[in-house]
Amino acid sequence: MIKVWTDAADAGLMDRHGDRGSTFAYLPDDPPIRAVSVTMPVRLESWSTSFGLLPIFEMNLPEGALRERLRLAFAKATGTFDEFDLLSIVGRSQVGRIRYTGDKEQLHEDVPFQSVDEILKRGRGGDLFRYLLEKFASFSGISGVQPKVLVRDEKAFAEMEHTGHRLTQSCKGATHIVKFWDPNEYPQLAANEYFCLGVARKCGLSVPPYRLAEDSMALVVDRFDLRMDGTYCGFEDFCVLNGRRTDEKYRGSYETSVMKRFGQFANSTHVNEDMEKLFTLVALNCALRNGDAHLKNFGIVYDEVQGEARLAPVYDLVTTSVYLPKDSMALTLNGTTNWASAKELQRLGETRVGASPVRVREILGRIDAAIADTSTELRAHMKEHAEFEDIGNRMLQQWEQGAAHSLRTA
Ligand SMILES: Nc1ncnc2c1ncn2[C@@H]1O[C@H](COP(=O)(O)OP(=O)(O)OP(=O)(O)O)[C@@H](O)[C@H]1O
Ligand SMILES: [Mg+2]
Repeated sequence: MIKVWTDAADAGLMDRHGDRGSTFAYLPDDPPIRAVSVTMPVRLESWSTSFGLLPIFEMNLPEGALRERLRLAFAKATGTFDEFDLLSIVGRSQVGRIRYTGDKEQLHEDVPFQSVDEILKRGRGGDLFRYLLEKFASFSGISGVQPKVLVRDEKAFAEMEHTGHRLTQSCKGATHIVKFWDPNEYPQLAANEYFCLGVARKCGLSVPPYRLAEDSMALVVDRFDLRMDGTYCGFEDFCVLNGRRTDEKYRGSYETSVMKRFGQFANSTHVNEDMEKLFTLVALNCALRNGDAHLKNFGIVYDEVQGEARLAPVYDLVTTSVYLPKDSMALTLNGTTNWASAKELQRLGETRVGASPVRVREILGRIDAAIADTSTELRAHMKEHAEFEDIGNRMLQQWEQGAAHSLRTA
Protein backbone atom coordinates (compact mmCIF):
# COMPACT_ATOMS: atom_id res chain seq x y z
CA MET A 1 0.00 0.00 0.00
CA ILE A 2 1.21 3.53 -0.79
CA LYS A 3 0.37 6.66 1.18
CA VAL A 4 -0.26 9.70 -1.04
CA TRP A 5 0.66 13.18 0.24
CA THR A 6 -0.37 16.53 -1.19
CA ASP A 7 1.39 19.71 0.03
CA ALA A 8 3.12 17.58 2.71
CA ALA A 9 -0.18 16.39 4.29
CA ASP A 10 -1.55 12.88 3.87
CA ALA A 11 -4.36 12.75 1.34
CA GLY A 12 -5.19 9.07 0.91
CA LEU A 13 -4.09 5.52 0.20
CA MET A 14 -3.37 3.67 -3.02
CA ASP A 15 -3.16 -0.06 -3.56
CA ARG A 16 -2.95 -2.63 -6.32
CA HIS A 17 -6.39 -3.58 -7.62
CA GLY A 18 -7.55 -6.52 -9.74
CA ASP A 19 -5.07 -8.23 -12.05
CA ARG A 20 -3.12 -5.22 -13.24
CA GLY A 21 -4.81 -2.11 -11.94
CA SER A 22 -4.77 0.16 -8.89
CA THR A 23 -7.17 2.06 -6.70
CA PHE A 24 -6.98 5.24 -4.63
CA ALA A 25 -9.21 6.49 -1.82
CA TYR A 26 -9.17 9.84 -0.01
CA LEU A 27 -9.10 9.88 3.78
CA PRO A 28 -12.63 10.38 5.18
CA ASP A 29 -11.91 13.83 6.65
CA ASP A 30 -9.92 15.27 3.72
CA PRO A 31 -10.82 18.88 2.91
CA PRO A 32 -11.27 19.74 -0.81
CA ILE A 33 -7.76 21.32 -1.02
CA ARG A 34 -6.18 17.87 -0.42
CA ALA A 35 -7.30 16.80 -3.94
CA VAL A 36 -4.47 15.13 -5.88
CA SER A 37 -5.50 16.61 -9.22
CA VAL A 38 -7.84 19.16 -10.73
CA THR A 39 -9.38 16.12 -12.45
CA MET A 40 -9.96 14.16 -9.20
CA PRO A 41 -11.96 16.06 -6.56
CA VAL A 42 -12.08 14.75 -2.99
CA ARG A 43 -14.95 12.25 -2.69
CA LEU A 44 -16.01 9.22 -0.67
CA GLU A 45 -15.99 6.85 -3.63
CA SER A 46 -12.54 5.56 -4.58
CA TRP A 47 -10.82 6.23 -7.92
CA SER A 48 -9.72 3.12 -9.79
CA THR A 49 -8.15 2.00 -13.03
CA SER A 50 -7.97 -1.53 -14.36
CA PHE A 51 -4.52 -1.01 -15.84
CA GLY A 52 -1.46 0.55 -14.19
CA LEU A 53 -1.74 3.81 -12.26
CA LEU A 54 -4.23 6.68 -12.51
CA PRO A 55 -2.82 9.42 -14.83
CA ILE A 56 -1.83 11.86 -12.05
CA PHE A 57 0.11 9.15 -10.20
CA GLU A 58 1.76 7.93 -13.39
CA MET A 59 2.68 11.46 -14.48
CA ASN A 60 6.22 11.64 -13.04
CA LEU A 61 7.32 8.05 -13.53
CA PRO A 62 10.73 8.00 -15.21
CA GLU A 63 10.90 6.65 -18.76
CA GLY A 64 13.99 5.77 -20.80
CA ALA A 65 17.48 5.50 -19.24
CA LEU A 66 16.48 6.53 -15.72
CA ARG A 67 13.71 3.93 -15.56
CA GLU A 68 16.04 1.23 -16.86
CA ARG A 69 18.65 2.11 -14.25
CA LEU A 70 16.07 1.90 -11.45
CA ARG A 71 14.75 -1.39 -12.80
CA LEU A 72 18.21 -2.91 -12.80
CA ALA A 73 18.93 -1.67 -9.28
CA PHE A 74 15.64 -2.67 -7.66
CA ALA A 75 14.11 -5.58 -9.58
CA LYS A 76 16.15 -8.07 -7.58
CA ALA A 77 15.00 -6.69 -4.25
CA THR A 78 11.32 -6.37 -5.12
CA GLY A 79 11.09 -9.51 -7.23
CA THR A 80 8.76 -7.77 -9.67
CA PHE A 81 9.09 -4.34 -11.15
CA ASP A 82 5.91 -2.64 -12.20
CA GLU A 83 4.73 0.96 -12.07
CA PHE A 84 3.61 0.54 -8.49
CA ASP A 85 7.16 -0.53 -7.47
CA LEU A 86 8.69 2.33 -9.44
CA LEU A 87 6.44 4.84 -7.67
CA SER A 88 7.44 3.45 -4.26
CA ILE A 89 11.10 4.06 -5.16
CA VAL A 90 10.95 7.61 -6.55
CA GLY A 91 7.84 8.68 -4.63
CA ARG A 92 9.47 10.85 -1.97
CA SER A 93 11.00 13.27 -4.49
CA GLN A 94 8.72 14.30 -7.34
CA VAL A 95 7.99 17.16 -9.69
CA GLY A 96 4.95 19.04 -8.33
CA ARG A 97 3.19 18.87 -4.95
CA ILE A 98 2.42 15.14 -4.57
CA ARG A 99 4.66 12.71 -2.66
CA TYR A 100 4.38 8.97 -1.96
CA THR A 101 5.60 6.85 0.97
CA GLY A 102 4.87 3.49 2.55
CA ASP A 103 1.49 3.51 4.33
CA LYS A 104 3.08 3.67 7.80
CA GLU A 105 5.94 6.01 6.88
CA GLN A 106 6.38 9.72 7.50
CA LEU A 107 7.41 12.05 4.72
CA HIS A 108 11.06 13.10 4.48
CA GLU A 109 12.41 14.33 1.19
CA ASP A 110 16.11 14.91 2.05
CA VAL A 111 17.66 14.96 -1.40
CA PRO A 112 21.50 14.89 -1.16
CA PHE A 113 23.42 18.05 -1.98
CA GLN A 114 25.24 18.46 -5.24
CA SER A 115 27.24 21.35 -6.64
CA VAL A 116 25.56 22.52 -9.84
CA ASP A 117 28.68 24.62 -10.56
CA GLU A 118 30.66 21.41 -10.61
CA ILE A 119 28.26 19.91 -13.17
CA LEU A 120 28.53 23.03 -15.34
CA LYS A 121 32.33 23.06 -15.13
CA ARG A 122 32.58 19.30 -15.26
CA GLY A 123 34.83 19.40 -12.18
CA ARG A 124 34.38 15.71 -11.63
CA GLY A 125 35.40 14.63 -15.13
CA GLY A 126 34.85 11.09 -16.37
CA ASP A 127 31.36 9.74 -16.55
CA LEU A 128 29.45 12.45 -14.76
CA PHE A 129 26.01 11.13 -15.67
CA ARG A 130 26.73 7.69 -14.24
CA TYR A 131 27.92 9.30 -11.01
CA LEU A 132 24.81 11.49 -10.72
CA LEU A 133 22.55 8.59 -11.61
CA GLU A 134 24.08 6.55 -8.81
CA LYS A 135 23.46 9.34 -6.33
CA PHE A 136 20.13 10.80 -7.51
CA ALA A 137 18.18 8.15 -9.46
CA SER A 138 15.96 7.24 -6.52
CA PHE A 139 15.22 10.94 -5.87
CA SER A 140 14.22 11.55 -9.46
CA GLY A 141 10.44 11.40 -9.70
CA ILE A 142 10.50 13.00 -13.12
CA SER A 143 9.16 11.78 -16.45
CA GLY A 144 10.73 11.90 -19.89
CA VAL A 145 12.75 9.64 -22.15
CA GLN A 146 16.03 11.61 -22.14
CA PRO A 147 18.57 10.80 -19.39
CA LYS A 148 18.11 13.15 -16.46
CA VAL A 149 18.13 13.50 -12.67
CA LEU A 150 16.70 15.83 -10.03
CA VAL A 151 19.40 17.34 -7.76
CA ARG A 152 19.56 19.73 -4.78
CA ASP A 153 22.07 22.48 -5.47
CA GLU A 154 24.25 23.26 -2.47
CA LYS A 155 24.29 26.90 -3.55
CA ALA A 156 20.56 27.25 -4.12
CA PHE A 157 20.17 29.08 -0.81
CA ALA A 158 22.28 32.03 -1.84
CA GLU A 159 20.46 35.18 -2.83
CA MET A 160 19.28 35.00 -6.42
CA GLU A 161 20.98 37.53 -8.65
CA HIS A 162 18.01 38.76 -10.65
CA THR A 163 15.27 38.78 -8.01
CA GLY A 164 17.16 39.16 -4.74
CA HIS A 165 15.00 36.35 -3.31
CA ARG A 166 16.53 33.66 -1.18
CA LEU A 167 15.39 30.05 -0.93
CA THR A 168 14.79 28.98 2.67
CA GLN A 169 17.45 26.79 4.29
CA SER A 170 14.73 24.36 5.30
CA CYS A 171 14.28 23.24 1.68
CA LYS A 172 15.10 19.54 1.61
CA GLY A 173 13.87 18.81 -1.90
CA ALA A 174 15.42 18.98 -5.35
CA THR A 175 16.05 22.40 -6.88
CA HIS A 176 17.30 21.61 -10.40
CA ILE A 177 16.88 19.22 -13.30
CA VAL A 178 20.06 18.01 -15.00
CA LYS A 179 19.48 16.73 -18.54
CA PHE A 180 22.11 14.69 -20.44
CA TRP A 181 22.18 13.14 -23.91
CA ASP A 182 23.34 10.04 -25.66
CA PRO A 183 26.00 10.89 -28.30
CA ASN A 184 25.01 7.87 -30.39
CA GLU A 185 21.39 8.85 -30.52
CA TYR A 186 20.97 12.61 -30.15
CA PRO A 187 24.33 14.39 -30.47
CA GLN A 188 24.46 17.90 -29.00
CA LEU A 189 20.92 17.63 -27.64
CA ALA A 190 21.69 19.94 -24.68
CA ALA A 191 22.99 22.74 -26.93
CA ASN A 192 20.03 22.16 -29.26
CA GLU A 193 17.57 22.63 -26.37
CA TYR A 194 19.58 25.56 -25.01
CA PHE A 195 19.11 27.57 -28.21
CA CYS A 196 15.48 26.53 -28.69
CA LEU A 197 14.70 27.76 -25.15
CA GLY A 198 16.49 30.98 -26.09
CA VAL A 199 14.03 31.53 -28.93
CA ALA A 200 11.10 30.90 -26.56
CA ARG A 201 12.40 33.49 -24.13
CA LYS A 202 12.75 36.06 -26.87
CA CYS A 203 9.13 35.37 -27.86
CA GLY A 204 8.12 36.64 -24.41
CA LEU A 205 7.25 33.18 -23.09
CA SER A 206 8.07 32.32 -19.52
CA VAL A 207 11.13 30.04 -19.40
CA PRO A 208 12.81 28.94 -16.16
CA PRO A 209 16.52 29.82 -15.80
CA TYR A 210 18.71 27.30 -17.63
CA ARG A 211 22.46 26.87 -18.18
CA LEU A 212 24.56 24.83 -20.59
CA ALA A 213 27.61 22.97 -19.20
CA GLU A 214 30.94 24.25 -20.53
CA ASP A 215 31.46 21.04 -22.46
CA SER A 216 27.78 21.03 -23.59
CA MET A 217 27.26 17.60 -22.07
CA ALA A 218 24.45 18.74 -19.76
CA LEU A 219 21.65 21.28 -19.56
CA VAL A 220 20.76 22.40 -16.03
CA VAL A 221 17.24 23.83 -15.59
CA ASP A 222 15.83 25.44 -12.44
CA ARG A 223 12.63 23.80 -11.21
CA PHE A 224 9.72 26.12 -11.92
CA ASP A 225 7.54 24.38 -9.34
CA LEU A 226 9.81 25.23 -6.38
CA ARG A 227 8.74 28.18 -4.21
CA MET A 228 11.08 30.32 -2.13
CA ASP A 229 9.67 28.87 1.11
CA GLY A 230 10.91 25.43 0.04
CA THR A 231 7.45 24.08 -0.81
CA TYR A 232 6.29 23.09 -4.29
CA CYS A 233 3.35 24.25 -6.35
CA GLY A 234 0.97 21.99 -8.20
CA PHE A 235 1.88 20.84 -11.70
CA GLU A 236 -0.17 18.68 -14.08
CA ASP A 237 0.69 17.80 -17.65
CA PHE A 238 -1.80 17.49 -20.48
CA CYS A 239 -1.83 13.69 -20.36
CA VAL A 240 -3.44 14.07 -16.93
CA LEU A 241 -5.82 16.83 -18.06
CA ASN A 242 -6.95 14.59 -20.92
CA GLY A 243 -7.25 11.52 -18.66
CA ARG A 244 -4.65 9.69 -20.77
CA ARG A 245 -1.89 7.28 -19.92
CA THR A 246 1.74 8.18 -20.62
CA ASP A 247 1.83 5.80 -23.59
CA GLU A 248 -0.98 7.85 -25.14
CA LYS A 249 1.04 11.08 -25.13
CA TYR A 250 1.11 11.25 -28.94
CA ARG A 251 -2.68 10.90 -29.20
CA GLY A 252 -4.79 13.98 -29.77
CA SER A 253 -4.89 17.33 -31.50
CA TYR A 254 -3.53 20.79 -30.69
CA GLU A 255 -7.02 22.21 -31.16
CA THR A 256 -8.84 19.98 -28.66
CA SER A 257 -6.37 18.12 -26.45
CA VAL A 258 -4.20 21.19 -25.87
CA MET A 259 -5.95 24.52 -26.52
CA LYS A 260 -9.55 23.63 -25.75
CA ARG A 261 -8.49 21.54 -22.76
CA PHE A 262 -6.45 24.42 -21.38
CA GLY A 263 -9.50 26.65 -21.65
CA GLN A 264 -11.46 24.16 -19.54
CA PHE A 265 -8.94 24.10 -16.69
CA ALA A 266 -7.49 27.63 -16.82
CA ASN A 267 -9.80 29.28 -14.32
CA SER A 268 -7.58 32.32 -13.86
CA THR A 269 -8.03 35.98 -14.67
CA HIS A 270 -5.04 35.61 -17.01
CA VAL A 271 -6.69 33.08 -19.27
CA ASN A 272 -6.56 35.26 -22.40
CA GLU A 273 -2.90 36.08 -21.90
CA ASP A 274 -2.10 32.41 -21.23
CA MET A 275 -4.11 31.27 -24.23
CA GLU A 276 -2.04 33.58 -26.43
CA LYS A 277 1.12 32.15 -24.91
CA LEU A 278 -0.07 28.62 -25.54
CA PHE A 279 -0.78 29.48 -29.15
CA THR A 280 2.68 31.08 -29.43
CA LEU A 281 4.20 27.88 -28.08
CA VAL A 282 2.32 25.68 -30.57
CA ALA A 283 3.41 27.92 -33.48
CA LEU A 284 6.96 28.04 -32.11
CA ASN A 285 7.13 24.23 -32.06
CA CYS A 286 6.22 24.18 -35.76
CA ALA A 287 8.76 26.86 -36.67
CA LEU A 288 11.56 25.18 -34.69
CA ARG A 289 10.57 21.84 -36.19
CA ASN A 290 10.05 20.23 -32.81
CA GLY A 291 8.22 16.97 -33.51
CA ASP A 292 8.09 16.06 -29.84
CA ALA A 293 5.54 18.60 -28.58
CA HIS A 294 3.30 15.86 -27.15
CA LEU A 295 0.81 15.98 -24.28
CA LYS A 296 3.47 15.67 -21.56
CA ASN A 297 5.36 18.67 -22.89
CA PHE A 298 2.63 21.13 -21.92
CA GLY A 299 1.37 21.67 -18.40
CA ILE A 300 -0.45 23.85 -15.90
CA VAL A 301 0.79 25.12 -12.53
CA TYR A 302 -1.19 26.29 -9.52
CA ASP A 303 -0.72 27.29 -5.89
CA GLU A 304 -3.94 25.63 -4.78
CA VAL A 305 -5.74 22.83 -6.53
CA GLN A 306 -9.00 24.78 -6.41
CA GLY A 307 -7.36 28.12 -7.12
CA GLU A 308 -6.10 29.74 -10.31
CA ALA A 309 -4.33 27.49 -12.80
CA ARG A 310 -1.78 29.10 -15.14
CA LEU A 311 0.04 27.79 -18.18
CA ALA A 312 3.29 26.18 -16.99
CA PRO A 313 6.58 27.75 -18.08
CA VAL A 314 8.11 26.37 -21.27
CA TYR A 315 10.25 23.21 -21.20
CA ASP A 316 11.60 20.54 -23.53
CA LEU A 317 11.97 22.48 -26.78
CA VAL A 318 14.21 20.75 -29.32
CA THR A 319 14.67 20.88 -33.09
CA THR A 320 14.05 17.16 -33.49
CA SER A 321 14.18 17.23 -37.31
CA VAL A 322 17.99 17.46 -37.19
CA TYR A 323 17.94 13.86 -35.91
CA LEU A 324 14.84 12.67 -37.74
CA PRO A 325 14.72 14.49 -41.09
CA LYS A 326 11.23 13.16 -41.86
CA ASP A 327 9.84 14.13 -38.46
CA SER A 328 6.38 15.66 -38.22
CA MET A 329 4.22 17.11 -35.45
CA ALA A 330 3.55 15.06 -32.31
CA LEU A 331 -0.19 15.82 -32.33
CA THR A 332 -2.54 16.72 -35.16
CA LEU A 333 -3.65 20.10 -36.39
CA ASN A 334 -6.45 20.15 -38.96
CA GLY A 335 -6.46 16.37 -38.80
CA THR A 336 -2.86 15.88 -39.88
CA THR A 337 0.62 15.82 -38.32
CA ASN A 338 2.19 17.64 -41.29
CA TRP A 339 3.99 20.79 -40.12
CA ALA A 340 1.31 23.48 -39.92
CA SER A 341 1.50 26.29 -42.46
CA ALA A 342 1.30 29.98 -41.56
CA LYS A 343 -2.24 29.98 -42.93
CA GLU A 344 -3.31 27.10 -40.71
CA LEU A 345 -1.72 28.69 -37.65
CA GLN A 346 -3.38 31.98 -38.51
CA ARG A 347 -6.75 30.21 -38.42
CA LEU A 348 -5.90 28.39 -35.18
CA GLY A 349 -5.02 31.70 -33.52
CA GLU A 350 -8.15 33.43 -34.73
CA THR A 351 -10.55 30.63 -33.79
CA ARG A 352 -9.05 29.19 -30.58
CA VAL A 353 -7.52 32.33 -29.03
CA GLY A 354 -10.11 34.68 -30.45
CA ALA A 355 -7.33 37.07 -31.46
CA SER A 356 -7.70 39.50 -34.36
CA PRO A 357 -5.98 38.64 -37.67
CA VAL A 358 -3.53 41.49 -37.09
CA ARG A 359 -2.69 40.25 -33.59
CA VAL A 360 -2.04 36.69 -34.82
CA ARG A 361 0.23 38.02 -37.59
CA GLU A 362 2.08 40.02 -34.93
CA ILE A 363 2.65 36.87 -32.85
CA LEU A 364 3.96 34.89 -35.82
CA GLY A 365 6.20 37.86 -36.75
CA ARG A 366 7.58 37.99 -33.23
CA ILE A 367 8.54 34.31 -33.39
CA ASP A 368 10.23 34.91 -36.74
CA ALA A 369 12.28 37.78 -35.27
CA ALA A 370 13.23 35.69 -32.21
CA ILE A 371 14.49 32.91 -34.46
CA ALA A 372 16.56 35.36 -36.53
CA ASP A 373 18.06 36.85 -33.36
CA THR A 374 18.89 33.49 -31.83
CA SER A 375 20.37 32.27 -35.12
CA THR A 376 23.05 34.95 -34.78
CA GLU A 377 23.90 33.69 -31.27
CA LEU A 378 23.91 30.11 -32.47
CA ARG A 379 26.39 30.96 -35.26
CA ALA A 380 28.70 32.64 -32.73
CA HIS A 381 28.53 29.55 -30.50
CA MET A 382 29.35 27.30 -33.46
CA LYS A 383 32.53 29.26 -34.12
CA GLU A 384 33.79 28.50 -30.62
CA HIS A 385 32.51 24.93 -30.43
CA ALA A 386 33.58 22.96 -33.49
CA GLU A 387 31.76 19.88 -32.17
CA PHE A 388 28.46 21.77 -32.50
CA GLU A 389 29.02 22.79 -36.11
CA ASP A 390 27.21 19.93 -37.80
CA ILE A 391 24.08 20.00 -35.62
CA GLY A 392 24.21 23.82 -35.45
CA ASN A 393 24.16 24.13 -39.24
CA ARG A 394 21.33 21.64 -39.51
CA MET A 395 19.36 23.60 -36.90
CA LEU A 396 19.79 26.84 -38.84
CA GLN A 397 18.56 25.12 -41.98
CA GLN A 398 15.53 23.65 -40.21
CA TRP A 399 14.67 26.97 -38.59
CA GLU A 400 14.83 28.75 -41.91
CA GLN A 401 12.54 26.20 -43.53
CA GLY A 402 10.26 26.11 -40.50
CA ALA A 403 9.94 29.89 -40.30
CA ALA A 404 9.26 30.21 -44.04
CA HIS A 405 6.53 27.54 -43.98
CA SER A 406 4.90 28.12 -40.59
CA LEU A 407 5.31 31.85 -39.96
CA ARG A 408 5.39 33.76 -43.23
CA THR A 409 2.40 34.09 -45.49
CA ALA A 410 3.12 33.78 -49.20
N1 LIG B 1 11.93 23.41 -15.19
C1 LIG B 1 11.11 22.42 -14.79
N2 LIG B 1 10.58 22.46 -13.54
C2 LIG B 1 9.75 21.48 -13.11
N3 LIG B 1 9.41 20.41 -13.86
C3 LIG B 1 9.92 20.31 -15.10
C4 LIG B 1 10.79 21.31 -15.64
N4 LIG B 1 11.15 20.94 -16.89
C5 LIG B 1 10.53 19.78 -17.13
N5 LIG B 1 9.78 19.38 -16.07
C6 LIG B 1 9.01 18.14 -15.91
O1 LIG B 1 9.89 17.09 -16.23
C7 LIG B 1 9.40 16.31 -17.31
C8 LIG B 1 10.57 15.84 -18.15
O2 LIG B 1 11.28 16.95 -18.67
P1 LIG B 1 11.56 17.06 -20.23
O3 LIG B 1 10.27 17.09 -20.95
O4 LIG B 1 12.47 18.22 -20.40
O5 LIG B 1 12.32 15.69 -20.51
P2 LIG B 1 12.52 14.83 -21.83
O6 LIG B 1 13.15 13.56 -21.41
O7 LIG B 1 13.25 15.66 -22.85
O8 LIG B 1 11.05 14.56 -22.32
P3 LIG B 1 10.56 13.71 -23.61
O9 LIG B 1 10.33 12.33 -23.14
O10 LIG B 1 9.30 14.46 -23.92
O11 LIG B 1 11.62 13.86 -24.64
C9 LIG B 1 8.42 17.22 -18.02
O12 LIG B 1 7.45 16.47 -18.70
C10 LIG B 1 7.83 17.99 -16.85
O13 LIG B 1 6.88 17.20 -16.19
MG1 LIG C 1 9.41 16.03 -22.41
